[in-house]
Amino acid sequence: MAIIQSASFDCTKNMHTPLQKISIGNYELPNNALLAPLSGITDKSFRTIAARYGAGMVVSEMIASAALTNGHADMARRLGKPDNLPHMVQLAGCEAKWMAEGARIAEESGADIIDINMGCPSKRVTNGYAGSALMRVPDKAQELIEAVLGATSLPVTLKMRLGWNDELLNAPDIAVAAANAGIKLITIHGRTRQQFYKDHARWHLIKPVVEAVDVPVVANGDIVDLSTAQKALEQSGAAAVMIGRGAQGKPWLVGQVGAALANKPVPATPNFEEIRALVQEHYQLMMEEYGEGLGVRCARKHLGWYFETLAETFVVNEGLRKAVLTEKEASNVPRLIDETFDSVERRAA
Ligand SMILES: Cc1cc2nc3c(=O)[nH]c(=O)nc-3n(C[C@H](O)[C@H](O)[C@H](O)COP(=O)(O)O)c2cc1C
Repeated sequence: MAIIQSASFDCTKNMHTPLQKISIGNYELPNNALLAPLSGITDKSFRTIAARYGAGMVVSEMIASAALTNGHADMARRLGKPDNLPHMVQLAGCEAKWMAEGARIAEESGADIIDINMGCPSKRVTNGYAGSALMRVPDKAQELIEAVLGATSLPVTLKMRLGWNDELLNAPDIAVAAANAGIKLITIHGRTRQQFYKDHARWHLIKPVVEAVDVPVVANGDIVDLSTAQKALEQSGAAAVMIGRGAQGKPWLVGQVGAALANKPVPATPNFEEIRALVQEHYQLMMEEYGEGLGVRCARKHLGWYFETLAETFVVNEGLRKAVLTEKEASNVPRLIDETFDSVERRAA
């Protein structure tokens, strides 16, 4: 049976002092590696799979609180509860009343934890003073935080960046005010808003936040394996890591990093047949979540990432790969996936 190599995991190098367990309200996390919220990616299907592979926590895609309140269908879909882990729902918005209402709707729909988005750099989001733009107006940010805390009895967490730009690295100040108000955990993406996704995340700049607050701080940005997770923790002093893009096409990765950080046996990377079964299952979950018409299009990016993972070990037939990623008829895709898997050839060593 073909084995997918996992370059990221040399278990003999894992031994270190395990991290302290962290809790969000009454929920003790099984380990200290979280799956990041990624709009359009970490839907219910993906979160369910990552949770099953041992992620310490998974977070919903960002939900625009005003649109949720107005009954927007895609925002309601984003409230889908994953199996296997508490339901952490992320809200974004620029008005206290919508954030409060969004929190109430999320709680009623079965959320266990609410996360507030203050990190999104998208112009569409920041022009309305939501996402990372809130870091430029700390009073407004605090008003929204307090509105959410006042609207729900659920634990509330916060995700933000280092600041707006290098002249305004105010994450520590915002974190202190948020923690004093009752925020239970803070995630910092180690970039400013002006950086968008450019350059490298600066994990050492997360340290002032860790030193400023008593609540757990999670380091995020460019963590793609155990080695980068350990570096991010060393440089930031954070209590946990959050992994986003590194888990695309590798939903098992977050659980592996979490186990390694806890000095527990690292679950094996799924083998070739297990990945084939996973890809088929993931595709079916997406058909259920989105319906076939939308689902077949939404699934393409995940299928493309799985093929990239496969291509680390095998030569993937380009014609078949393209056929899977352009097929319009949802019911044809599982057969094309199988044909692609059947046709791979192991790369020469
Ligand atoms: C496509 C995409 C969608 C994202 N959506 C969200 C989101 O909905 N909420 C959020 O807080 N951050 C979002 N982010 C930011 C990520 O959660 C994370 O902070 C960032 O990607 C850095 O982590 P990484 O290098 O591990 O991916 C998104 C990032 C990307 C690339």
